[in-house]
Amino acid sequence: MEKFVITGGTPLHGTVTISGAKNAAVAIVAATILCDEPCVLENVPEISDITICMKILRSMGAIVKRVTDNTYYFDTRCITETKVPYELARLMRASTYFLGTLLGRFHDACVAMPGGCDLGDRPIDQHLKAFTSLGAKHDLHNGEVHCYADELIGSQVYFDMNTVGGTINAIMAAVKAKGLTIIENAAKEPHIVDLANFLNSMGADIRGAGTDVIKIRGVSFLKGITYGIIPDQIEAGTYMVAAAATKGDVIIKNVIPKHLESITAKLRKIGVTVIENDESVEVRVDGPLIKTNIKTMPHPGFPTDMQPQFSTLLTLAEGTSVITDDIFDNRFKYVSELRRMGADISVDGTVAVIQGKGALQGAPVQATDLRAGAALIIAGLAASGVTEVENIHFVERGYENIDKKLEGIGAAIKRVVVADVDVDQMRMSG
Ligand code: EPZ
Repeated sequence: MEKFVITGGTPLHGTVTISGAKNAAVAIVAATILCDEPCVLENVPEISDITICMKILRSMGAIVKRVTDNTYYFDTRCITETKVPYELARLMRASTYFLGTLLGRFHDACVAMPGGCDLGDRPIDQHLKAFTSLGAKHDLHNGEVHCYADELIGSQVYFDMNTVGGTINAIMAAVKAKGLTIIENAAKEPHIVDLANFLNSMGADIRGAGTDVIKIRGVSFLKGITYGIIPDQIEAGTYMVAAAATKGDVIIKNVIPKHLESITAKLRKIGVTVIENDESVEVRVDGPLIKTNIKTMPHPGFPTDMQPQFSTLLTLAEGTSVITDDIFDNRFKYVSELRRMGADISVDGTVAVIQGKGALQGAPVQATDLRAGAALIIAGLAASGVTEVENIHFVERGYENIDKKLEGIGAAIKRVVVADVDVDQMRMSG
């Protein structure tokens, strides 16, 4: 196990480059199963969720080769298996995407109920509803979902709520189905548009991605291509908040400013200066941070994946801020860790009330999930004294080289191996 040891109080200065988007990459890597020829993906983030996706592909017989940094070759023609290894599937939420791609190509898929960040109940009923609409059946045995169909016929899919994963899975199951599929109440995130662009580049016929109605006309052949994954807007937002929280001045490169609009707008409301360029943003603080209320929404609203990071920032703004995040049942588990650093936050269900006091003190804390880990790292960078963030494996799921990137803009952050605690020894000492 490893932890980050952070000495806070240094304003971040310099330039940081953003990697490929995790939530686009996990979908697109899984979607290579639909390709009838080899393909090459560029700007693939080197993060553990992607490592797991590649292990899953290899375990089923696919060829996955590293071409160079962040560029990989995929040949899935030789896949013989439609069952994802249980111990890999349960590690992350994105393993559900193998249901959509294996069903879309082989009309058969068997994947463990997904794992991933514990944000409360995260069922997959809408994913299964989409598959059923296309003519598939499903059952659950020993923790594994088995989906199967004689054939997939285009149909209308109407989601009961906004679901990113459900929309992605419906697209992947429909792209080779017979006839027209219309997805209504579709999610509109940039990673859904990126997946549709990838599939259309191979010869799929997907229209309307990025709107709430997506029309897919099934095709029989998808050709091999080379495709670059979009930059990660949540990674970019995380560094924007880190610059603001440390009252620094940072240029964040390799971004699509349009994907950052809701994050930029909220930072400006908090009194942070954000300068937008073609493929970069500059973030700096020229005055006091201002308390602000936030409500998370599906894209293009304020993203739930930026909620923990903004909670940290608002502890540094004088006054009362209110954050509402009802996209998930419980995405405030990290608050108890922030309290260890002096934060005054009360949580009632999906609402957090932050009494900003303008400062935090370093302390040993534990990441509870991916974005919570990022929030605690930002808190450590802004706090006085030393902060130790444990359970950084959560953070490595979605942030490529976060310690090196932060060091590159002046952060005092070190990766340290944590000796395994001898539980028996602890027990004896009472
Ligand atoms: C994706 O999760 C992302 N994960 C999440 O990012 C992100 O927070 C979320 O979308 C919302 O933007 C990946 O892309 C791998 P949903 P997903 O389906 O697809 C409920 C991160 O930090 N729901 O949009 O699981 C669900 O419980 C991660 O990068 C159902 O009830 O999110 C949740 O309350 C965390 N039934 C809400 O909808 C379903 O069948 C939104 O979930 C599906 C979802």
